[in-house]
Amino acid sequence: MNTLTNKVILVTGASRGIGAAIARKISSEGAKVIINYAGGKEAADGVVAELKAKGGDAIAIQADVSKSDDVRNLFDAAIAHYGRIDVLINNAGIMILKTIKDTTDEDFQRQFDINVRGTFNTLREASTKLADKGTIINFSTTVNRVMVPTYATYVATKSAVEQLTRVFSKEMGARGINVNSVSPGPTNTDLFIKGKPQEVIDRLAAMASFGRLGEPEEIAEVVSFLASDAAKWVTGQNIGVNGGMA
Ligand SMILES: NC(=O)c1ccc[n+]([C@@H]2O[C@H](COP(=O)([O-])OP(=O)(O)OC[C@H]3O[C@@H](n4cnc5c(N)ncnc54)[C@H](OP(=O)(O)O)[C@@H]3O)[C@@H](O)[C@H]2O)c1
Repeated sequence: MNTLTNKVILVTGASRGIGAAIARKISSEGAKVIINYAGGKEAADGVVAELKAKGGDAIAIQADVSKSDDVRNLFDAAIAHYGRIDVLINNAGIMILKTIKDTTDEDFQRQFDINVRGTFNTLREASTKLADKGTIINFSTTVNRVMVPTYATYVATKSAVEQLTRVFSKEMGARGINVNSVSPGPTNTDLFIKGKPQEVIDRLAAMASFGRLGEPEEIAEVVSFLASDAAKWVTGQNIGVNGGMA
């Protein structure tokens, strides 16, 4: 049975990685999907074409989530096309791994701009533009729960996302909107794999109870459940999806 039939769902950063896997899963559950991307137009158009080929309904809209004007236009364009947005999945994010000693002002700023300001920008738009009884899912990380050198600035941004989630869930309760975050563990995408020596990948993979990386599709399953009406009583929570890493 399809669990998301007729829901209009905006997924930020859905051109590839976990966001693209979420788009595929929720489309298979009957959702109409807005595929947001920053620079990857070809990849985003490819995801739209793939969903349409399987009978789905999707559009791609470019917007840099760190820019409030872009995010306003993203919401307005999505609502102009589909009439409303029921679910916001705040998946867009970046990770720059460096010791604090080596982190530049630009590294710090870029991560906070995309991960924290980007989430803030979409939440502020959603506060008035998401449909009543809607759902919001933000993205944190399980690495918040361990202490891994080089992750300090990244986990600082994701800790901020968890706090935005908690307070916003109280602010949105009156409109019946539930707000949660998910915390994936190390997952097999560009963000995690690119630039890492194999021994670091293996060491982090070994921290899961199952001794392996997560796959984007495994994160998408849980996000799809949280987007459904079956999860309406869950709000203000951070859900680990990490194979038991922490
Ligand atoms: N992979 C992991 O191990 C892991 C673990 C825990 C949490 N997470 C979180 O999960 C989320 C997805 O990560 P991922 O691994 O799928 O990353 P990814 O493979 O690098 O994909 C990132 C996506 O975000 C988009 N994006 C980047 N900057 C953007 C911006 N300014 N505005 C709009 N979209 C932007 C990218 O679009 P373009 O293609 O257009 O650049 C792309 O679609 C992130 O929030 C990440 O922090 C990942």
